[in-house]
Amino acid sequence: MGEQLIKKIGVLTSGGDSPGMNAAIRAVVRSANYYGLECVGIREGYNGLIEENFTKMGPRSVSNIINLGGTVLRSARSMEFKTKEGRQKAYNNCLKHNIEALVVIGGDGSFTGAKIFSEEFGIKVIGVPGTIDNDIFGTDNTIGYDTALNTAMEAIDKIRDTATSHNRVFFVEVMGRDAGFIALNSGIASGAVDILIPERKDSFEDLIISFEKAKKRGKNSSIVVVAEGDKLGNAYQLAERTKERFPDYDIRVSILGHIQRGGSPSCADRVLASRLGFGAVTGLLKGLTNVMAGIQSNQLVYTPIDDAIKKHNEINQDLLLISEVLAL
Ligand code: F6P
Repeated sequence: MGEQLIKKIGVLTSGGDSPGMNAAIRAVVRSANYYGLECVGIREGYNGLIEENFTKMGPRSVSNIINLGGTVLRSARSMEFKTKEGRQKAYNNCLKHNIEALVVIGGDGSFTGAKIFSEEFGIKVIGVPGTIDNDIFGTDNTIGYDTALNTAMEAIDKIRDTATSHNRVFFVEVMGRDAGFIALNSGIASGAVDILIPERKDSFEDLIISFEKAKKRGKNSSIVVVAEGDKLGNAYQLAERTKERFPDYDIRVSILGHIQRGGSPSCADRVLASRLGFGAVTGLLKGLTNVMAGIQSNQLVYTPIDDAIKKHNEINQDLLLISEVLAL
């Protein structure tokens, strides 16, 4: 490793939790220890930075957490950190504890806070993408996405059993405030008849056409996967409108909700988190700041945090076509 510029770092998890955040914390703490850096855990996101809710961390403080969902450091969406006063308190605590750099594990809201903090006070920051939504530019996958996808797919498989038994139509709503990655991929994996995502402007008539096609081909039950952020409406509204058009349909709605955020991380998420946690520490040691560690085409890459916040990963057009073709 090149010239060591820092001696002490802080690590926090912020925003919506995601499976694999613990594996990322473990990787940061152990990599820091390996390269001779002190590491402080900051509890409850930026709130902990403001309230000096710190805990000294070493290799043994992260034992037996690689397999755990949630985050042992807890998480928060801090309102106080959005204020200059809040960030000033946070900076004073960094000074008091000689914290020179922060590893922020979270999504775009968390990275926005990190960027502002770094610009205002010169604290080095490096982002690690942790969100189930997979909506962060600069990495092929975010930590937690793979686990959430599998949770959604398993849930939809179970819904399929009962949908088939009762000849029913199900609208299943999955998470994704602004992004359709979970919906598109879990929908393809579970054989949905239609998938509604915010990135694609579907009309209600397109959905009706899907139902008519399904009817013509003799399907007795159907599953429609709807992303939480879809612009056409939520699963209940879509179910209601569908019932008006097809009064004979027996329709049910299932909102998968926060079960998608929990559970033991998948192997892919644990490995991704380990690589990114390591990459965050080695990035800081190389003098990087205001960047996010990501994995693209199986390589560790660093993206300016500004790009990670503002740019968006495109939905794969092949997947959109495949979802349509295979729903025949
Ligand atoms: O960003 C992750 C996410 O799970 C979104 O998919 C969802 O819209 C949101 O968080 C829910 O947030 P909360 O846990 O605050 O209800």
